Amino acid sequence: MLRPYVVVFSTATLDGRIADPSGYSRLSCDEDFALLHKHRAMADAVMVGSNTVLVDNPKLTLRLARGRSPIRIVVDSRLRTDPGSNVFGVPGRSVLLTTIDHTAEELSRYRSRGILIVQAGSGKVDLASGLEKLYAFGIRRLLVEGGGGLNCALLKHRLVDEVHVTIAPRIFGAGISVFEGSGLGCPAYLAYIGHDVLCGGWVNLRYRVVYV
Ligand SMILES: NC(=O)c1ccc[n+]([C@@H]2O[C@H](COP(=O)([O-])OP(=O)(O)OC[C@H]3O[C@@H](n4cnc5c(N)ncnc54)[C@H](OP(=O)(O)O)[C@@H]3O)[C@@H](O)[C@H]2O)c1
Repeated sequence: MLRPYVVVFSTATLDGRIADPSGYSRLSCDEDFALLHKHRAMADAVMVGSNTVLVDNPKLTLRLARGRSPIRIVVDSRLRTDPGSNVFGVPGRSVLLTTIDHTAEELSRYRSRGILIVQAGSGKVDLASGLEKLYAFGIRRLLVEGGGGLNCALLKHRLVDEVHVTIAPRIFGAGISVFEGSGLGCPAYLAYIGHDVLCGGWVNLRYRVVYV
């Protein structure tokens, strides 16, 4: 199966949370933002789950590095995201990765805004098949920016190549973790690539995923 090279990038608390129970998730420092944007500059596309769009309404554009903004992809099985969301509104290509369950009429509110529809799976997006379609569309390097549910589902389906997590000097004690789900079945093994200390207290950790 040909699919893009997938890098997950998240910023988490020391206890591994990317958001607290209220949805608060402002954990990055300036150098971490700059690093994230370097990753965006290297990627053909950046992907987020529907909840991240609903909670954060991000733009996912390239602002802090040189280069072109990557294609933006939202994984949304049930069409819960608003076609007027920032991620679809900023210039450049955006993609809705959804299921085959929706009618042309239901999808027209996205298509009419120029959003490309890619359909894979029924009930829930079939991520493996979706990634194959994105590869055929020319996407070779994919940056996944969460949230925890999407990160976990991709890892569970062995679709993640690298995990980059910046640990912020914060503890939430509860909330959504970097990989949030009901378990992977077996542990994911990680091979150390490197780390950097950012802003005098944030630590960016980089690993390659080893599937056994
Ligand atoms: N600190 C950080 O770096 C960071 C980064 C990003 C987000 N966040 C935070 O993370 C929170 C959102 O995370 P989240 O885990 O709730 O949501 P998420 O990963 O953004 O989105 C999860 C949703 O994706 C959809 N989805 C479609 N196909 C899927 C599949 N095959 N497997 C899994 N999900 C699929 C599902 O909704 P449907 O079934 O409706 O499609 C699912 O509920 C927000 O509070 C946000 O602020 C933090």
